Amino acid sequence: MQLFSVDGHEQVVLAQDRASGLRAIIAVWSTALGPGLGGTRFLPYAAPADALADVLRLSKAMGYKNALAGLSAGGGKAVIVGDPAVLRSDALLEAYGRAVAQLGGRYVTACDVGTRVQDMDVIARTNPWTTGRSRSLGGAGDSGELTALGVHAGLRAAAEHVWGTPELGGRRVAVSGLGKVGHRLVGLVLDDGATVVCADTDPEAVRRLRAAYPAPDRIEVVAPDQIAAAEADVFSPNALGGALTAAVVAGLRARIVCGGANNQLATAEVAAALATRGVLWCPDYLVNAGGVIAVADEGLTPPYDHERATARVLGIGATTRRVLQEAQQSGQTPAEVADALAEQRIAAATAGTGTEVPGGEQPL
Ligand code: NAI
Repeated sequence: MQLFSVDGHEQVVLAQDRASGLRAIIAVWSTALGPGLGGTRFLPYAAPADALADVLRLSKAMGYKNALAGLSAGGGKAVIVGDPAVLRSDALLEAYGRAVAQLGGRYVTACDVGTRVQDMDVIARTNPWTTGRSRSLGGAGDSGELTALGVHAGLRAAAEHVWGTPELGGRRVAVSGLGKVGHRLVGLVLDDGATVVCADTDPEAVRRLRAAYPAPDRIEVVAPDQIAAAEADVFSPNALGGALTAAVVAGLRARIVCGGANNQLATAEVAAALATRGVLWCPDYLVNAGGVIAVADEGLTPPYDHERATARVLGIGATTRRVLQEAQQSGQTPAEVADALAEQRIAAATAGTGTEVPGGEQPL
């Protein structure tokens, strides 16, 4: 009998604390490669079933992301149900941390939508399996920095695949979403000599970008609904999931799509539509693994070493090259190749025939 909409989970735990109002679900999809590593999402889900569906889907996705990043980590994720602006308290976070502690290290947590570094500092009071803590406490801190670096490494690999050179000088990059990841990605491609067209729904994010990079001749800002179809060589989605719908793909002018946003494909069929249009899509969970590589360094091979984490994140470039080459040779989409690579590594570990990747040091 299939109990859940997404199957194969090792463990799904419901945690409640009446005093603080905590209602959380922790899902461990697989520990074949190591502890289930993935963030805690804090969101006011409309219905409990939505929270369950989300955590099951996200924990499996983390299993694939961690495997492809070469980490000694399995797949896990947690959701806290409610509005963080209303419910967030030390008592609630500590109650949640005690629930994580009861799993005895089978689940290792981190930040996600709705949670922040300071929250991890509070959760960490109750267990040693919390990552994404402040740098001052020995944590990896804001993972957006290394996520952007990994997206950039993937983008350079894609550029080399398409144009024969990883250099982005003279290219035009369209960036949607100027938050923790997108803002830094703009800085990296400007350093490469690219020009940028960008958009954000929050005027404050645009203001911050303009203040950080005073190069008005190299940065154009457009409305959020114009960015995907902007004249550009690269489209980089760094806002919310589902940015790549069939309609968006039909209007794309970029040759490469590479960004940090999770779950970019609105439906699985969009991967084929991108290929049909001759657009090279870098699978999101391949290029946006920089954040989880950072927190894996913190949680699985402590103490956190920023240089070591950075070196591993740059390995995303080599894995992207491999995925794109195999896709070209086999006629599969990059998404199919990336999925197969992750599945092979998990299956080998499950069967006890996997090659251990010490501390997740090597890219695949
Ligand atoms: P963030 O919340 O700091 O930034 C997101 C930005 O997108 C905000 O400035 C927001 O105003 C903007 N935005 C929202 N809707 C938009 C729209 N329709 N059009 C244009 N802009 C819009 O989030 P962060 O951390 O930068 O993450 C961005 C994406 O990358 C998310 O999908 C996240 O799940 C994913 N990601 C982030 C990681 C990290 O380490 N921060 C790790 C892996 C994935």
